[in-house]
Amino acid sequence: MTLFEKALSVRQNAHAPYSNFKVGAALRTKSGKEFVGCNVENAAYPQGTCAEAGAIAAMVAAGETGIDEIWVVANSSETVAPCGGCRQKLAEFSSPETLVVLAGVEGERERRTLGQLLPDSFSGEHLP
Ligand code: THU
Repeated sequence: MTLFEKALSVRQNAHAPYSNFKVGAALRTKSGKEFVGCNVENAAYPQGTCAEAGAIAAMVAAGETGIDEIWVVANSSETVAPCGGCRQKLAEFSSPETLVVLAGVEGERERRTLGQLLPDSFSGEHLP
């Protein structure tokens, strides 16, 4: 399965009864392993989590920490890009060259690098 197919598939498991907006994400690490995530909403709205966060959590739980490429799939007339919080979460495990592919349910729409999505990002290098 391609990363697109994996993101499309996991999107079906999204728990989005409040927004009715299902999102799937699939990433490949620098070592070639692949992880998926979907958005998981909650009746206490701020407790919901994004698809990208789910994929990142699965990756870290498996002992991986470097993202090479991530696909995000949503069904929207406007192309969906990761929210600000997810851009920061991705930056923790990415380089500015990390590829972020934005897709609809029909396939790829646009591609960006994380550096394009989150320039001048804050990182652990700024901490004393
Ligand atoms: N959402 C994601 O999972 N990823 C994105 O990149 C954009 C937004 C989710 C959060 C929420 O469950 C729903 O989409 C509507 O905002």
